[in-house]
Amino acid sequence: MSEALRLAGIAKTYNKGRPGEVEVLRGVDLSLAAGEVVALTAPSGAGKSTLLHMAGLLDTPDTGTVALGGEDLTGASDRVRTRARRRRIGFVYQFHHLLPEFTAAENVILPQRADGVAPGPARARALELLERVGIGHRADHRPAEMSGGEQQRAAFCRALANAPGLLLADEPTGNLDPGTSEVVFDALVALVRETGMAALIATHNLELAARMDRTVRLEEGRIV
Ligand SMILES: Nc1ncnc2c1ncn2[C@@H]1O[C@H](COP(=O)(O)OP(=O)(O)OP(=O)(O)O)[C@@H](O)[C@H]1O
Ligand SMILES: [Mg+2]
Repeated sequence: MSEALRLAGIAKTYNKGRPGEVEVLRGVDLSLAAGEVVALTAPSGAGKSTLLHMAGLLDTPDTGTVALGGEDLTGASDRVRTRARRRRIGFVYQFHHLLPEFTAAENVILPQRADGVAPGPARARALELLERVGIGHRADHRPAEMSGGEQQRAAFCRALANAPGLLLADEPTGNLDPGTSEVVFDALVALVRETGMAALIATHNLELAARMDRTVRLEEGRIV
């Protein structure tokens, strides 16, 4: 089976050699097979967000490599990394980060347009994704006109817009109440399973983590 993500020997220290130095990651090795759904758990401050940002090519490690689909992108140019980020990775944050001046549908259309998809097909795909997570009726609403759970579901659709092979989610239901969190989380996992993408999902919720294929725990800068 092919590999969606491989992190090897990832180390990261913030403020290296300066006051306030924080050694966060001390050699993280982790790989995800294509289609594998993995929970990432760790105490607050242990480095989950830091690790997801490395995997998502949003930040670079001090040492170590990040490979997507078998291709090492650690030292690649900004142009190559940006394109990989757009096409091959979907990222979901704890808070939706939707663009406030655009509707739900437009937020899902924009990354497709950036990747060269024509307006008609981009809108059709956006509506299909929104429908799939139960918010088709909110397609023309702006984020401020949607509930927290609806906003987060729209953010999932945006992350999946370009059919990436890998989804990275940083406590994607962390700001929702437990009931809503469960419904929204189920929608995310169903969508991930249906598309066959791999996913690495940080969560504090062990019940939600138990629904995934595997749980990895980050402790003292390493996967244990
Ligand atoms: N830009 C930064 N500069 C300095 N220190 C940072 C920076 N970003 C994060 N840190 C520190 O690195 C450590 C790991 O932070 P990170 O956000 O990755 O943790 P986390 O596991 O995601 O925590 P949480 O569960 O609270 O979201 C923390 O001690 C944090 O204070
Ligand atoms: Mg975090």
